[in-house]
This record gives sequence, structure tokens and C-alpha cells, in this order.
Amino acid sequence: MKITVIGTGYVGLVSGTCLAEMGNDVLCLDLDARKIAILQDGEIPIHEPGLLEMVRRNVAAGRLRFTTSIEDSVAFGQLQFIAVGTPPDEDGSADLQYVLAAARNIGKHMTDYKVVIDKSTVPVGTGDRVKAALADELAKRGLDTPFSVVSNPEFLKEGAAVEDFMRPDRVVIGAEDERGIAMMRELYAPFIRNHDRVIVMDVRSAELTKYAANAMLATRISFMNELANLADVMGADIEQVRVGIGSDPRIGFHFLYPGCGYGGSCFPKDVQALIRTAEENGRQLKVLQSVEDANEAQKHLLLEKIDGRLGKDLAGKHFALWGLAFKPNTDDMRAASSRVVIQGLLERGATVTAYDPVAMNESRRIFGDETRLRYADAPMAALQDADALVIVTEWKEFRVPNFGAIKAALKLPLIFDGRNLYPPQQVRDNGLEYFAIGRR
Ligand code: UDX
Repeated sequence: MKITVIGTGYVGLVSGTCLAEMGNDVLCLDLDARKIAILQDGEIPIHEPGLLEMVRRNVAAGRLRFTTSIEDSVAFGQLQFIAVGTPPDEDGSADLQYVLAAARNIGKHMTDYKVVIDKSTVPVGTGDRVKAALADELAKRGLDTPFSVVSNPEFLKEGAAVEDFMRPDRVVIGAEDERGIAMMRELYAPFIRNHDRVIVMDVRSAELTKYAANAMLATRISFMNELANLADVMGADIEQVRVGIGSDPRIGFHFLYPGCGYGGSCFPKDVQALIRTAEENGRQLKVLQSVEDANEAQKHLLLEKIDGRLGKDLAGKHFALWGLAFKPNTDDMRAASSRVVIQGLLERGATVTAYDPVAMNESRRIFGDETRLRYADAPMAALQDADALVIVTEWKEFRVPNFGAIKAALKLPLIFDGRNLYPPQQVRDNGLEYFAIGRR
């Protein structure tokens, strides 16, 4: 099939590349000439395991191309995926200007039937606005060329996005007309060969499904975080509680890991956007508002533990920080807990040396010329002259450290672990003081 993908951000680039990998002809459009130049040079502007090789392979095969030309991109695909950003407005609701501009551009240039597919995460009702914008542009040209508008939310996890796209556990398609539904089924058939995992529904339900999924997962995390904080004061061990409840198949083990808060480009933004959507429609999502508030508080928990042990004045204290990314296998620091922790340590007068396997450049970009924040090129190198170690991201390489060497390197042998990486007793047996989340 001939496919245009509008927007070469994270979702657009992964989707376009995976669709090409399945043998489709894909043209990716971005108005940012710098991004397109990077892609045309055989590089990618983001870090995602397996993606670079797949981009290069499909470019070489002639199935994947990149352009800045709106005319070319509209002419190319019978399927037009909209995968542009929906950044939060000041009040947390999603800003739809890029989605609607993409729809208008299609309406301005199309000459034959198109399926216009919303992949961006957009509030309920956006499908209708896309349809109206497109029809309006066609009407200005005196045309009534047929088109279908489809909602096809993505459920990609950063760090596993290629795998998630190639082997989806479900494909949600919101569509109102048979022609659009048939084309979407044909497109996804090779990705779900052995099971029919396509769930067809109306557009508004598909739009809400995306938010509902992320909001449910965020709820599980905030719930566990609050229980972990309770376990802390009650002398219970949240790890044991987690295993105890997760073994109930109605609950399950996924997304029950307490920590120093969730971050990333989806959960924080989507939770806020859903709360705003509800408010705009005269409803209050009380549970979700608490999920959001609890997460904000959780991002400050490591600082509270540090305050409790060392006091609020940290002038002259030096901290090693392991992990900057909001989770492993990505360099993404959007809404990352590390940002709150670094900011808090600097405000209290401390200095910090951070290590992260891939996110240090991103951190340099965010913190600019902050002189009290430095970087190390290896985990142990970050510990030089440090009083204490703070862990914010659960990278695999932090999982089996040499505790003897950590003890020898730290001036005060303290570990503040925001991801519960170690059995507490093992750390303590090595003469280190260990502060984790909800561990005995
Ligand atoms: C999420 C959804 O999983 C994905 O389906 C959707 O399309 C986009 O949003 P992502 O943001 O890439 O994906 O990361 P995810 O692995 O879900 O983790 C999000 C955050 O939650 C991370 O900060 C992670 O550390 C935190 N988390 C996750 C926990 O604190 N505890 C858990 O048990 C799981």
C-alpha cells in the first residue's frame, strides 16, 4: 500500500518505518527541514533500540523516503497518517493546531479518495474536527472528493516501540465507514497474522480508549506508590505486598512497581489532558486528579528522604546520580523524576555528578551551563568525592554493582534508591545505609 506519514517524531518515525518493513511504500513528511536532513543522511533524531537499522534497511530497499513537500506527501499515500505532536496547552489540554493543520493541508491538495488516520493522541471529538477541517478545504476548492477519517491510537512503549508496532497485542480502529475499515484491516493484517487482534469501534470510543489505557496504568503506579509510602511508615515491605497481590490474576503483575514517580511523554500529559477534557464537559475525574497529585508528590520523595537524613542545607555536599532518563532504554527526559531530584539538590546547595548510558547529552541540553552539575563516563566514576549515591532510573547496568567498591568510594555510605533495585539486607550487609521506596 502507499502510505504517507505526517510528522517524523517518535510515533511517526516508528510507525512509518515499521509499515515499510512490512513491504509498504512509505513517504514521511516533516516541515522541520533539519529533521528530514538527518533522516536523509541515514541517521535518526531519537534513540530507540532497533530503529536505526530498520530505517537504513528500508531506505536502501527504496520503500522508505522522507520529504518536506506537502504537495508530494498528499499526492503519495492513499493512507495519510497524522502523527504530529499534541503538546499540552498552558492548562494541560492537548493543543490540536498541528493535527488540524495537517488535515487542512490534505484537503487543500488531495485529488482522489484518502483514508486520513489519526495516530496522534487526541481528545475525544478530534476526529469530527479533522473531518470538518478537511471538508472545509475541499469545499473551498468546490470539491466533494470522498475520504474516511479513522482513529488508530498507538500503544508504543519507548524502548520497545519497534517490537510493540511489529507485534501489537491489539490494534484499535475507530471508523464509521466500511471503506475505511476495510483498508485498515488490510493494512494491519500482516502484523497480526495468527490472531485477530483488530478491535473496530466508533471514532470517539477509539479516541477515549487511548487515554483510558494510559490513565489506568498511571493509576496502578500511583496507587502502589502511595501504598509503598504507607509501608515505609508501617514497617511493611511493599515488594512482598506486590507479589502477594499480583499473583491474583484479576490484578496481575504489570505496572505495580513503586518508585520515585512516573514520567515520559505520555502518562503525565495524557492524564492531565483527560482531566481537562472531563472538566470541559462538566465532569470531574476525582480518581485521576489524585493519581496526578500523588505522582507529583512522589517525584519529591527522594529529596524528602535526603532532607530527613542530611537536613535541608546541603551546601558542601556532593551527590552521585545514576540515571537521568525517565525509564531505561531511552534518552528521553521529558517529565523525568531526575529533573526534580537534580533541581532540588542544586536548590539545597549541593553539587551533583550524574551518569546515564544515553541521556547525558539530553541533560546537558536541559540544564545548560549549570556548573554544579557535572557528568561522569561510567557509574563508578560518578562516585568520586561523592557523599551519597542517588538512583533514579533502573538501567540494567546498575543492577549488580560492587557494593564494596561503592562503600569505599562514598564519604557517607548512603544510597537513596528511587527504583528499589537491591535487596535491602544485601546493601546493609555491605555497611551501606539504604533508603528505598517502601522496603523494610
Ligand atoms: C506508556 C505506555 O506504556 C504506552 O502504552 C503508551 O503508548 C505511551 O505511554 P512509555 O511512556 O514509553 O509508555 O513508558 P512506560 O514503560 O509505560 O513507563 C512510564 C513511566 O512509568 C516510567 O517513568 C516508568 O518508570 C514508570 N513506571 C512504570 C513505574 O513507576 N512503575 C511501573 O510499574 C511501571
